[in-house]
Amino acid sequence: MNCNIAVIKGDGIGPEVVTEAMKVLNAVGKKYGHTFNYEQLLMGGCSIDKHGVPLTDEAVERAKANDAVLLGSIGGNTQTSPWYKLPPELRPEAGLLKIRKELGLFANLRPAYLYEELKDACPLKEEIAEKGFDMMIMRELTGGLYFGERKTEEVDGVMTAVDTLTYNENEIRRIAIKAFDIAMKRRKKVTSVDKANVLDSSRLWRKVVEEVAKDYPEVKYEHMLVDNCAMQLVKDPAQFDVVLTENMFGDILSDEASMITGSIGMLASASLNETKFGMYEPSGGSAPDIAGQNKANPIATILSAAMMLRYTFDLDREADAIEAAVKKVLEEGYRTCDIVSEGTQLVGCDKMGDLVAERV
Ligand code: IPM
Ligand code: MG
Repeated sequence: MNCNIAVIKGDGIGPEVVTEAMKVLNAVGKKYGHTFNYEQLLMGGCSIDKHGVPLTDEAVERAKANDAVLLGSIGGNTQTSPWYKLPPELRPEAGLLKIRKELGLFANLRPAYLYEELKDACPLKEEIAEKGFDMMIMRELTGGLYFGERKTEEVDGVMTAVDTLTYNENEIRRIAIKAFDIAMKRRKKVTSVDKANVLDSSRLWRKVVEEVAKDYPEVKYEHMLVDNCAMQLVKDPAQFDVVLTENMFGDILSDEASMITGSIGMLASASLNETKFGMYEPSGGSAPDIAGQNKANPIATILSAAMMLRYTFDLDREADAIEAAVKKVLEEGYRTCDIVSEGTQLVGCDKMGDLVAERV
């Protein structure tokens, strides 16, 4: 198969971790007879430095011309980087929001899975970690507070800021359908998370999810308030299969879910639209404090590449091979510094990539 991939390495640890994911993809290509063609594009701080904007229209067009996007991370230290002296619409994150919107990537899949080998790195009590967990956070990605109208202005002499949380029923329906479809391929349970005791947008969310659920009689579903969900994630994460939620709640809950896997450096993600096109990226940020030091954990990005093979290219066997290779490397005791523990072997980012690539 011939696969055309737009590669956005981005800022911070992005270039390091994407390089390792490409190494693993190339090993897959060699073994299974596929060709991966890469087109490198700029987004984030590196695009600001070169073009004065975090994402050019041309880069968007080039991304669309490929089958998928493999992304590292964007942004820098918000306290010290000159990028954060720019107006909000010119900062690195604006590039990420623009590409999500322009490519229509409304469904963000963030799997959080506790590897047997990483139970020591899990910050939860042993009796909780022991049970393990395997959940898929389905975050709506192109609506809600992130894309509602916002402004800061003086009202009656007082500075006032407004952000708007808007959802229409179609936006809710399409992400709910994706969540139930995915649940059908997993353990057939959906937990829809909202704040329906306060927010109108959540009450509409609940109503539409209930309508969609009628078409999936085999799927058990429940509603959960977001504050309770935050608590349940650390109390009993094993209860969750698919967690369906809006943009902002999903942003927060997915960081929490990633932390209980041991490290945010383990969490892959896929952002999908109605077609086979997808953007694949680690859920973690650009980690400017460790950038360029060969310390980053490339596993989240490598697993994101596996998701790309599965969801965009329908190469399930190859995706399985990458996931099995990661598991093998962990079983053999290799760890980057974020997940290292007593009795394991510390390796750098590039070595971790080599080890996985050798085992696909
Ligand atoms: C994420 C990130 C982004 C988000 C930021 C960088 C805008 O936190 O992908 O979770 O909030 O969506
Ligand atoms: Mg986030």
